[in-house]
Amino acid sequence: AAAEKGGFDSFMDKEIHDQPQAVADTLLGRTDASGALVLDDLRIDESVLRAVNKIIVVACGTAAYSGHVAKYAIEHWCRIPVEVELAHEFRYRDPIVDERTLVVAVTQSGETMDTLMAVRHAREQGAKVISIVNTHGSTIPRESDAVLYTHAGPEIAVASTKAFLAQITAAYVLGLYLAQLRGNKFPDEIGALLEELRDMPRKIQTVIERGEYVRATARSMEKSDKVLFLGRHVGFPVALEGALKLKELAYIHAEGFAAGELKHGPIALIDEGQPVFVVVPSPRGRDSLHSKVVSNIQEIRARGARTLVIAEDGDDAVRPYADEIFWIPQAPTLLQPLLAVVPLQIFAMALATAKGLDVDQPRNLAKSVTVE
Ligand code: G6P
Repeated sequence: AAAEKGGFDSFMDKEIHDQPQAVADTLLGRTDASGALVLDDLRIDESVLRAVNKIIVVACGTAAYSGHVAKYAIEHWCRIPVEVELAHEFRYRDPIVDERTLVVAVTQSGETMDTLMAVRHAREQGAKVISIVNTHGSTIPRESDAVLYTHAGPEIAVASTKAFLAQITAAYVLGLYLAQLRGNKFPDEIGALLEELRDMPRKIQTVIERGEYVRATARSMEKSDKVLFLGRHVGFPVALEGALKLKELAYIHAEGFAAGELKHGPIALIDEGQPVFVVVPSPRGRDSLHSKVVSNIQEIRARGARTLVIAEDGDDAVRPYADEIFWIPQAPTLLQPLLAVVPLQIFAMALATAKGLDVDQPRNLAKSVTVE
């Protein structure tokens, strides 16, 4: 087992370090000689994909958070409405699904029973199903109309890391492919986004190399019993995933919130010393989201919070209000989750390790849940 861990203390640690490769491999071989996206595995007729008027992403756990990121990207690039739904909720609410609905099932294992049941239900209603799957030969791709494989390699640790980044990457590829097919974007815009995407593994590597500071912070927080996570736009699913990782690995009560929701309730939770992670959007992004999130940091700090901020290199506006800053390289807004989640993964792993817990096999959890 030590050899399989490649010199790392845990599979999780190894898999975090595998992430640049997982993203690079998931992008491999997706374009033809002219640079256009080609998805060979997609056996759904192009005319059907052009006619799609709604996308529903179904998934569970971490995979569902990759679906939240997919929603922001696909809606922005393709102008198709995207819903994200937990697979176990989808089927039981009598969802509105027909021939023009594209259901995207996201799953690392390809065996999650809740997700499989959602796939079956969608197809019974006439929808086409594309699955984004990491495990070849698993059940869900066999029961889907088409599959887009993530190439993260086997993921052993129960808590998902590299599969998550690969799922987000595959969702971007799918979004750009649909934008190309439906003529929502010019080929050069798609080419530019693909270039940015191909540059992400290098940036993820940088975040991993900065991990020691995150680990040291985590070790100093071994006694924490409640940690909050705030994010906005694509930073919101990152906050949810950061909280999930901390629950799964360190058994700490952790909650993720949309930063804009703070004043509508969660701010009541802030008292002296309360640790709050905040994922800060790029200051170069649109819509003044950056300044709104910086104001949130200011507000919670004024109420005693200990602010742990994830911000882009060069974002000096956050400095006065941050107790700790975990810097990530600059990236286009929609691609930022691939970087911002990495310090949160490392934090949860290091805190669990500091508590003497088994990070690869957390209590009560299974890698793949094959019962409903
Ligand atoms: C289990 C695992 C989670 C995972 C979820 C979905 O609950 O513990 O880490 O995110 O299943 O798994 P899937 O294989 O469908 O991605």
